[in-house]
Amino acid sequence: MAEALLDVRGLSKSEGYNQIVSHLESVLEGIDDPIAIMATISSVLHHGWGHLWTGFYRVVAPALLRVGPYQGTLGCLEIAFGRGVCGTAAAERRTVVVPDVHAFPGHISCDARSRSEIVVPVTGGGGELIAVLDIDSELAAAFDADDAQKLEHLVARFFLR
Ligand code: SME
Repeated sequence: MAEALLDVRGLSKSEGYNQIVSHLESVLEGIDDPIAIMATISSVLHHGWGHLWTGFYRVVAPALLRVGPYQGTLGCLEIAFGRGVCGTAAAERRTVVVPDVHAFPGHISCDARSRSEIVVPVTGGGGELIAVLDIDSELAAAFDADDAQKLEHLVARFFLR
């Protein structure tokens, strides 16, 4: 069993994400249950970086997201495609980086402490959108193109198979 708590705060993004992916590869070896994978990714990313909220919204109907495994305070239960940051990422099937949530029209506030956010679409092996990965931070502009690229790589590694 790999070390239970991985803390990558203080490392470069590149090194931090590398350690997180290696850790996940070791913990998730032989696991193909998407809910178990979502729960494990949420936990490792959340505690690794010390985020405010880290989790998945799953596609449960053609244009509807419902909350899945997450770490953090209560998240909203359902989000229609096109609404908020999550619904925008799902509808447009692209990563959305929001440096200042107050400047994003239609941002859905689940926790007043949230200052910035990133949402990454999760595609299954058949090319279908299965979920989005949503991460919120108490810090302004916590996420950039580096996070987008690393997180896209991470979700492809564990779901695109
Ligand atoms: N802020 C998100 C909603 C989800 S919560 O932050 C957990 C959004 O605008 O889509």
